[in-house]
Amino acid sequence: MTDVSEAQVSEAEIASHWREEEYYWPSARFIAQANGADPAIFERFSEKNFPECFKEYADLLSWDHYWHTTLDTSNPPFWKWFVGGRLNASYNCIDRHLARDRNKAALIWVPEPESEVTHVITYQELYKRVNEFAALLQDLGLKQGDRITFHLPMVPELPISMLACARLGIIHSEVFGGFSGTACGDRIADSGSRILVTTDAYYRNGDLLDQKAKADEALAAAKELGAEVDRVLVWRRHPGRYSSQTPMVSGRDFFVDELLADYRGRVVEPVSMPAEAPLFLMYTSGTTARPKGCQHSTGGYLAYVTGTSKYYQDIHPEDTYWCFADIGWITGHSYIVYGPLSLGTTSVMYEGVPTYPDAGRPWRIAERLGVTTFHTAPTTIRMLRKLGPDEPKKYNYHFKHMTTVGEPIEPEVWRWYYNVVGKGEAAIVDTWWQTENGGFLGSTLPALQAMKPGSCGPGVLGIYPVIYDEEGRAVPAGSGRAGNICIRNPWPGIFQTIWGAPERFVQIYYQKYCRDKSSKDWHDWPYFAGDGAMLAADGYFRILGRVDDVINVAGHRLGTKELESASLTVEEVAEAAAVPVMDELRGRAVEIYIALKPGFTANERVEEDVSAAIERLIGKIARPKHVWVVQDMPKTRSGKIMRRVIAGISNFTGVGDITTLANPEIVDTIQHRVQAEKLKRGEVPRELSAQEMEEIKAFGQAD
Ligand code: WTA
Repeated sequence: MTDVSEAQVSEAEIASHWREEEYYWPSARFIAQANGADPAIFERFSEKNFPECFKEYADLLSWDHYWHTTLDTSNPPFWKWFVGGRLNASYNCIDRHLARDRNKAALIWVPEPESEVTHVITYQELYKRVNEFAALLQDLGLKQGDRITFHLPMVPELPISMLACARLGIIHSEVFGGFSGTACGDRIADSGSRILVTTDAYYRNGDLLDQKAKADEALAAAKELGAEVDRVLVWRRHPGRYSSQTPMVSGRDFFVDELLADYRGRVVEPVSMPAEAPLFLMYTSGTTARPKGCQHSTGGYLAYVTGTSKYYQDIHPEDTYWCFADIGWITGHSYIVYGPLSLGTTSVMYEGVPTYPDAGRPWRIAERLGVTTFHTAPTTIRMLRKLGPDEPKKYNYHFKHMTTVGEPIEPEVWRWYYNVVGKGEAAIVDTWWQTENGGFLGSTLPALQAMKPGSCGPGVLGIYPVIYDEEGRAVPAGSGRAGNICIRNPWPGIFQTIWGAPERFVQIYYQKYCRDKSSKDWHDWPYFAGDGAMLAADGYFRILGRVDDVINVAGHRLGTKELESASLTVEEVAEAAAVPVMDELRGRAVEIYIALKPGFTANERVEEDVSAAIERLIGKIARPKHVWVVQDMPKTRSGKIMRRVIAGISNFTGVGDITTLANPEIVDTIQHRVQAEKLKRGEVPRELSAQEMEEIKAFGQAD
């Protein structure tokens, strides 16, 4: 009896849970103007038309030479797209728009201080500035295939620098401006860059932050890894005026605005690049301490971001499109710079934080610039909702389309986005994808597929996802069971390899479900995304989060091993474990547990030192919410730290099965102390959704 009633209760709960997620349909007005409004598109991109279906995306570009082979699978899983084709990404994003749209805004840059004027960079102006900087890079001896590292914040010089590299076939590697100098130095060394491009300073939350100071740290860190940097090129936030405290090193550091004086009007012919030439590297965190340089191609990548920008972002040339992400992450590369500019639209960039000087700022910008299309992450949406729930109403803007990206969005937050930010008028796409992927993998086609809060939707055009269990059996739709989401087929936006580590590329992404290593048939090589997911009966995917040791803070992946190694740089620390804790604003925050070497006792200074080390070595974004000093870590008999047990403590979700631990008695002690302290500080745990519980339970299982 009891069993039956319990089962009924839980089924009813599940049912009500699903009932609350009703479909939302786009307005007739949106459908009438949408790029993807003809259902025939699904047929064109169906599996039987793969891989030729992607010709439709590639045909959105201007090619110097047409390709002879759409997809070459002869060396799996190193897929080659549009082989034989030649093109230039800078030409596609700039030159080809000049004849018609020379004086249309390509970029509109909004500085953080509201007293500063908004900068409009027309396609003509962008052409001029990109050419001049390209000529300068060329004179520094940089050529096709060389790498260059940028450590730039959200200033127009960042896309200008990227497009200048693309013009010459130089591989750019932008490191998120908020990362520390040391994190930048690691990436400089890994990519083998000999030039660093940075800026003296930028505005963030009302302060003018010193960025150039990080260049010295970066060069020192690179040097330790055996890498020499010849030159540091420094853009200036206020040209002619140096805003950093650090001295310029003679013969090494140069102000770009001064050098450019000799390049006025210089034009550089775009180099016709093979489709398969790398366009850029973007580093991301994964299962090992070393960040992975995801290498993206020129032709496949550009075709993929252009196609998805057209159909999923519904970008029209006449739109004013604002992606409120940082170009230091893949979202900004694909959906602020390459996709939108390739389509010849106007792309808005904002320098600062969303809530500066108040939570009405984004809506003032939207109203002033007439933004039609808005793109941001759940963490920003949560923050704006918390600090200014009624602000959007006060401003007269109208979005037709909005995007959410980077982490799962709670249905409640989704509904605020839809009703309040979108004023019930905008179609929303929840786009699931990764740094490795180039562009969207899961989403709804906005005019043709209904929205469902909390689910990204089905695979996008030409992407055929599947959920596998640990044995590689497909988990059927509607089964209510979670598993590992994989993509069965190659696609043009997929990264080509991990820079300098092809064996890691195969091992991390393809080994798990490869059916036959000698096979040259792509069907045998599913791509393992490393995310847990569930597939509903309607074909919509619900992403549960990472299955590997990665903590997604505010939509950004931080490797637990990186966080732990940073903690271990503090002398007293013997062991460290990083776990995610659910956080109202950032989605997840980091908590660190440390055990000290014998002879040391716990004190606040050690805790602060660990936080400071993480901030210094990785960046502010990674700063832990708490550092807990414990006597010992819960460990398996083989000595592995059981992160899921600690994660359960931090999140008040229970510690699960601890019978396999070598030291089960320690769990109680840690739990008692940590939870008592949290309650004392008023950190009352909120109730977690079933999805979040799953994530915590699964955390660190890859260990
Ligand atoms: C997560 C960001 C749920 C996911 C583009 C993925 C998401 C990781 C979504 C990649 C979404 C991204 N819904 N989860 N719409 N988008 N994720 O490499 O866990 O910074 O694997 O790329 O973010 O993060 P990355």
